[in-house]
Amino acid sequence: MNISIIGSGYVGLVSGTCFAELGNKVICADNDAKKIALLKNGRVPIFEPGLEELIKNNLKKGRLKFSTNIKEAVINSEVIFIAVGTPPLDSGEADLTGIEHVARSIAQNLTGYRLIVEKSTVPVETGERVKHTIATYVKRKIKFDVASNPEFLREGTAINDFMHPDRIVIGVESKKARDILTSLYQPLNAPIVVTNIKSAELIKHASNAFLATKISFINAVSRVCDKVGANVEEVAKGMCLDKRIGRAFLDAGIGYGGSCFPKDLDAFVTISENVGYDFDLLKAARRVNEEQKSFYLKKIKDALWVLKDKNIGILGLSFKPNTDDIRSAPSLDIIKSLLQDGAKVRAYDPQAMLKIKNEINGITLCKDPYEVARHADCLLVVTEWDEFKELDFKRLKKQMRCALIIDGRNIYDPEEMSKFGFKYISIGRPSRKDGGK
Ligand code: UDX
Repeated sequence: MNISIIGSGYVGLVSGTCFAELGNKVICADNDAKKIALLKNGRVPIFEPGLEELIKNNLKKGRLKFSTNIKEAVINSEVIFIAVGTPPLDSGEADLTGIEHVARSIAQNLTGYRLIVEKSTVPVETGERVKHTIATYVKRKIKFDVASNPEFLREGTAINDFMHPDRIVIGVESKKARDILTSLYQPLNAPIVVTNIKSAELIKHASNAFLATKISFINAVSRVCDKVGANVEEVAKGMCLDKRIGRAFLDAGIGYGGSCFPKDLDAFVTISENVGYDFDLLKAARRVNEEQKSFYLKKIKDALWVLKDKNIGILGLSFKPNTDDIRSAPSLDIIKSLLQDGAKVRAYDPQAMLKIKNEINGITLCKDPYEVARHADCLLVVTEWDEFKELDFKRLKKQMRCALIIDGRNIYDPEEMSKFGFKYISIGRPSRKDGGK
């Protein structure tokens, strides 16, 4: 099929490239000329494992094209995906300016039937707005369909998530739209859930809100574990063998971050409020997530007493491993608070150093974990990169002024850390096997 994707951010770029890999002819459009120039040369502005290679390969095969020209994209495609950003406004609502703008541009360039598909995460009823906007601005009477096809890919595993999804959701209003999208996704061999447009829009918000709530739930349980000397990992293990619960998203830590969960929860709370429902449960999930960072900071203060002039080393800055993304990363709030208290912060992350440099002043960036540990009074594990799981702990300890690790992601075994001679504090897990504090 001839496809275009308007908006070459995370979702647009990965989806467009994967559609090309499946044999479609794809134009990825974006109004950021710098970004498009980079992409035309096979250079990728984001870090996503495997993406650059896939882009280069599909550029070479002539299946993938990048353009700043939305008209070219609309004229040459049967299906047009809208994948522009929907950033949060101060009110928590999603800013739909980009979506409206693209809908108008599509209308003004429409020459024949097109299927216009929302891929960005949008509030329920946006599909109706898009349909109305296109109908208003289209020059003559041309048939078109609007559909919703939310994307569930995760940063760091985006290509695999796109190619092997648990399900594909398509919200449609006509048989033609349903047939086009079903045949586009047929090569993926995944279950396809066909719904109306509003349900599809809600599935995305409800799924992200549910996953975020699951994380907040286990984080709340970890607080109780900490108080009584139980182990949150054992609790999660005991819970997850019940097939109705499952193991995924039951890792306690310093809370979720990233470009989706915080923003989508805010948006879903506001959407619900706007239609007259107070989604208290999500507000609580959000609150637990915020508290988790304060709770971690309290652990640091309890252990170090006064933070002024203490050397604190940070392992990991991105909101999760395998990405350079620091949007709403817990590291940001944690570092800012430590600096405010007068601590000296050294940090290392395999990918996110450049981004943190532009975001926070006053920290020293180091070339590896051992340099971070030099003269440190305490080391904090903030992101669970694999690289941190296999450190030379003897070497690490030698570098440190005090052998103290406060692990916000529970990546080490407390017993082993104690054998290496560290004082080891983690989340919802006792330092001793018998639950003693
Ligand atoms: C999420 C959704 O998973 C994806 O389906 C949607 O399309 C976009 O939002 P993403 O933000 O890339 O994806 O990351 P994800 O892997 O879901 O992790 C989100 C956050 O939750 C991270 O900060 C992570 O550290 C945290 N997390 C995840 C936990 O704290 N505990 C867990 O058990 C799982």
